[in-house]
Amino acid sequence: MKKPLIALLLCFSCFFWSNCADSEQEDNGYTYVQPGGTFVVPESEQRAGDPAAGYDYLVSGDYISSGVPYDAYLLAFGANEENVLGREGDNAVVEPGFTAVDAPNGVRVVAPNCLQCHAGNINGDFIVGLGNHQGDFTLNAGGVVPLVDIVLTSLYGTDSEEWEAYDPFRKASLAIGPHIVTEVKGANPADQLAAVLAAHRDPMTLEWIEEPTIPIPSEVIPTDVPAWWLLKKKSHMFYSGMGRGDFSKYLMASSLLTMKDSTKAAEVNTHFPDVLAYINSLEAPAYPGNINDSLVVEGKSIFESNCAGCHGTYGADEFYPNLRVPLNMVGTDPVLSDAYNNEHYIAFTNWFNNGWFGSGEDAAELVSEGGYVAQPLDGIWATAPYLHNGSIPTLEDLLNSEQRPTYWRRDFNSDSDLDYSKVGWNYETLDNKADVSTYDTTLPAYGNQGHTFGDNLSNDERSALIEYLKTL
Ligand code: HEC
Ligand code: HEC
Repeated sequence: MKKPLIALLLCFSCFFWSNCADSEQEDNGYTYVQPGGTFVVPESEQRAGDPAAGYDYLVSGDYISSGVPYDAYLLAFGANEENVLGREGDNAVVEPGFTAVDAPNGVRVVAPNCLQCHAGNINGDFIVGLGNHQGDFTLNAGGVVPLVDIVLTSLYGTDSEEWEAYDPFRKASLAIGPHIVTEVKGANPADQLAAVLAAHRDPMTLEWIEEPTIPIPSEVIPTDVPAWWLLKKKSHMFYSGMGRGDFSKYLMASSLLTMKDSTKAAEVNTHFPDVLAYINSLEAPAYPGNINDSLVVEGKSIFESNCAGCHGTYGADEFYPNLRVPLNMVGTDPVLSDAYNNEHYIAFTNWFNNGWFGSGEDAAELVSEGGYVAQPLDGIWATAPYLHNGSIPTLEDLLNSEQRPTYWRRDFNSDSDLDYSKVGWNYETLDNKADVSTYDTTLPAYGNQGHTFGDNLSNDERSALIEYLKTL
């Protein structure tokens, strides 16, 4: 389809919205029509890096430099012979979500890494950059510390170098554990984790402070971990579009878990442009099932008239507009969008923007304006559940708001529970929240309302659209 025609179709889709004043932009002869009421998130300049060095640092670097001593880790968990990351040396037998590194005092420890949340299995394949939709944050992560303490005391004693290497991790786990508990398995508390870590650190020197200096939000806002392969299209980070400025500074923020101070931060900071280059080299995985080509043709034209204005176009004519859509237009759960206007998050934003992270030539800046970004939809088949809070299990349910389940449960076996027809997770519908595996959309921040842009389509049109979405 020719681009001017797409523009024309997009114009018609504007009848769904009131007060719609669409605006046209010419770009290399291509006319894109931006839906009225939406905002383009501006581009920020990024530091260049080397993808191969970035992968190496991601899976073997010491950006988190405290944890359980290596020998104690092997004693407790045994050797994992699968080595899905193809790592060498000590790391060849460590689970992919952990890295063997030297603590500042030279003791070999096993520390968590980014793949705790940013890797997962789908359809039998382990994929780096897929959000981990299986993570279980429903228990206090600090709860195991007393047990680990007993084991390490008996192995090394509390006066040992091993204990010293473990202590920053221990302190952080005890401080954050009670504050990052989610209601449902699969939901991720990363935004809250960042707020708690900031509360325990000096904004400039980044040194650990035992008593929190900024208020810690009482409610944990659940999010679904976004796929890394989308970032290369985006002008910003995070669902609300608030991550502006230097991306590498955000990428390294997890190291606040155990980092000693800003001297170490400056060193870690030099590696993260490479990690960014690696993330930007990732491509979405191809759909593993059958695809009906003639339905795809039909679905593509439905997509271009109903969806592309916000989500962009794909394939040879690719164009991604980077739009932030106000809450009253998208209508999805408001809690994450509104959070950044409450006192806790304003305190967090000030800590961030006015401290080490917001300083220097490579400054990052959190800018909260509300609403949610219409994400790129590459590899969307692989990234259920849907919406920023992961409240909707399949694409078919997303495109038909009346069909969305209020309470739903899946078996968290990513290798076998892919639903090839509705596209997303196989699930059962329940009458209430039976256990932590039940997603309860009646809880605050877990709502599945809004994004009703597929409701006016017929069932046949929705099927064709889903067929097209499989190809992205
Ligand atoms: C505890 C889980 C967790 C860990 C550990 C973690 N992340 Fe994330 N990450 C998330 C979640 C959840 C989001 C989405 C937050 C939001 O937008 O509100 C996210 C967002 C991102 C994004 C933005 C994606 C986008 O399209 O906006 C990138 C890139 C990223 N993380 C990289 C990293 C790197 C690199 C590390 C390791 C240094 C890391 N993350 C560690 C959970 C985690
Ligand atoms: C007015 C702009 C707009 C239109 C039109 C629109 N969307 Fe969206 N879409 C959004 C926004 C904003 C979000 C993020 C909402 C959230 O996470 O709370 C979203 C989220 C999604 C998601 C979930 C992404 C994920 O990773 O969880 C899918 C899938 C999607 N849209 C598909 C579609 C399809 C298909 C259409 C056409 C029928 C469509 N959208 C029309 C703005 C739009």
